[in-house]
Amino acid sequence: MGTEIRKMTLEDLPEIMKMEKELFTAPWSEYMFFKEIKSQYAYVLVNKNNEQIIGYVCGLKLFGELSITNLAVKKEFQRCGFGEKLIKYIINKLLEEKCFKFFLEVRESNHPAIKLYEKFGFEQIGIQVNYYNNPVENAVMMKLNL
Ligand SMILES: CC(C)(COP(=O)(O)OP(=O)(O)OC[C@H]1O[C@@H](n2cnc3c(N)ncnc32)[C@H](O)[C@@H]1OP(=O)(O)O)[C@@H](O)C(=O)NCCC(=O)NCCS
Repeated sequence: MGTEIRKMTLEDLPEIMKMEKELFTAPWSEYMFFKEIKSQYAYVLVNKNNEQIIGYVCGLKLFGELSITNLAVKKEFQRCGFGEKLIKYIINKLLEEKCFKFFLEVRESNHPAIKLYEKFGFEQIGIQVNYYNNPVENAVMMKLNL
């Protein structure tokens, strides 16, 4: 399927909020996405005719390091390489800006996401105890220096 990646816009929010509620037990609020759109590192992967959002990725750049703050792929499109495509895209964007350090947190039980990040070379650097709610769970902190 032909896809493209473009910046997330306010018009995307209804579809994104629907996905967020389906994919996460503690979904982000619309306001959190609003802030990400302003922060300029928020992207959506859409099909060729821009008819539907397949996935999205958000990041926040602080002190020369990008925190990947959100990543999701619609259930019916998972395991097709789209998560990988989104991570590759945001990393390449940041490399163009000479940003070489990446950081993220992920639920300890989220093996698909951890495997995906490890594929890019992210390494586990620590645990934040009871970081997440609903359900309460530890966060694995991961870092990638390129
Ligand atoms: C995590 C997520 C974004 C992965 O997206 P995806 O498009 O399905 O992933 P890809 O098809 O690009 O897979 C890339 C790699 O990730 C790993 N991976 C992805 N899903 C996996 C699964 N269910 N089990 C094991 N490994 C998995 C594999 O290493 C895979 O490489 P491979 O296909 O060569 O084995 C997706 O499962 C998702 O949206 N989950 C719900 C939201 C979420 O947990 N987001 C992450 C928050 S930190």
